[in-house]
Amino acid sequence: MTDILKIKDLTKHYVQKSAFFKKETGRANVLNGVDLTIIENEISGLIGESGCGKSTIAKLIMMLEESSSGTISFRGEDINSVSGRGKKNYYKNVQMIFQDPYSSLNPRMKVKNIIGEMIRINGGSKRDALLKTKEMLCETGLEESAMDKYPHEFSGGQRQRIAIARALVVRPKLLIADEPVSALDLALQYKIIDLLLTLKAKYKFSILYISHDLNSVAKFCDNVSVMYLGKIMEKASADKLLKEGKHPYLKALIESIPIKDPLHRTDKRSVIKGEIPGPHNIPVGCPFHPRCPERMAVCDQEIPVLKGIEGDHAVSCHLF
Ligand SMILES: Nc1ncnc2c1ncn2[C@@H]1O[C@H](COP(=O)(O)OP(=O)(O)OP(=O)(O)O)[C@@H](O)[C@H]1O
Ligand SMILES: [Mg+2]
Repeated sequence: MTDILKIKDLTKHYVQKSAFFKKETGRANVLNGVDLTIIENEISGLIGESGCGKSTIAKLIMMLEESSSGTISFRGEDINSVSGRGKKNYYKNVQMIFQDPYSSLNPRMKVKNIIGEMIRINGGSKRDALLKTKEMLCETGLEESAMDKYPHEFSGGQRQRIAIARALVVRPKLLIADEPVSALDLALQYKIIDLLLTLKAKYKFSILYISHDLNSVAKFCDNVSVMYLGKIMEKASADKLLKEGKHPYLKALIESIPIKDPLHRTDKRSVIKGEIPGPHNIPVGCPFHPRCPERMAVCDQEIPVLKGIEGDHAVSCHLF
């Protein structure tokens, strides 16, 4: 198994300053030492509650923002140390689709230009752009007549197909999918996920699949990382995570998955108590300790490290 993207000890802090004296007035610690590896040709899931920093990781991978510290390496090379042709290749090889395809598609451009532009930016001719756009529309289940239409003329599901066509037309090696189906109806969600799986089998690329829905992530992904307040709490193969999840946070998440017959739930459920703190007041020690049903004396003093326990299963908790 070869890594395609490796994130090591990544942090991102936003500093708020006063208007007059530019003095620091607050600091949001959004990512607090993230380690994450995406394997070539695999689907890696990243889940966590709203505000835990998932999209921030995506923004840093896409170089839309700069990290505060740590490294992101693509095929062994730190993305911040490459320049010129290397950077251009990176921008081509790593593409992204978003939760809301409408705001990510230029409303004033026709579909043929939205998709074709990607080929032109990467040195392709007009003819090449037109041919590849037609082919990609067909691959994503859209009619050729879509070429001359604008994004507002399509439904939400069709717009996500256009966004997928735009991302994949340059044959990237890694697709960052940030909640790509959470704005769609359930039936459509499965269709879009099926489409991604079909295209992945044909064009061979890796996916970082970001979501807050553990159940769907576990079905769709090869491996999953669970995030809480800017840190990875546990990672494992999707199967192992659901059956043998160790972290008290993950166990509570699993127990909160809706089941068909809740009255016949036999297990003892641990419900996460209290509100999730914000990035302005990250708890000292383990970030989950104020809400943890299994907290110990050490938990509000020392930050646990992400330790391997068996194979690719790793947990960041003082219990292990
Ligand atoms: N420019 C900024 N300045 C200060 N804080 C920010 C900034 N951008 C994001 N944040 C904060 O960073 C935290 C993480 O945001 P992020 O969008 O990465 O979360 P997320 O896990 O993707 O959440 P969601 O599931 O709701 O999409 C949030 O608390 C957000 O308010
Ligand atoms: Mg997000």
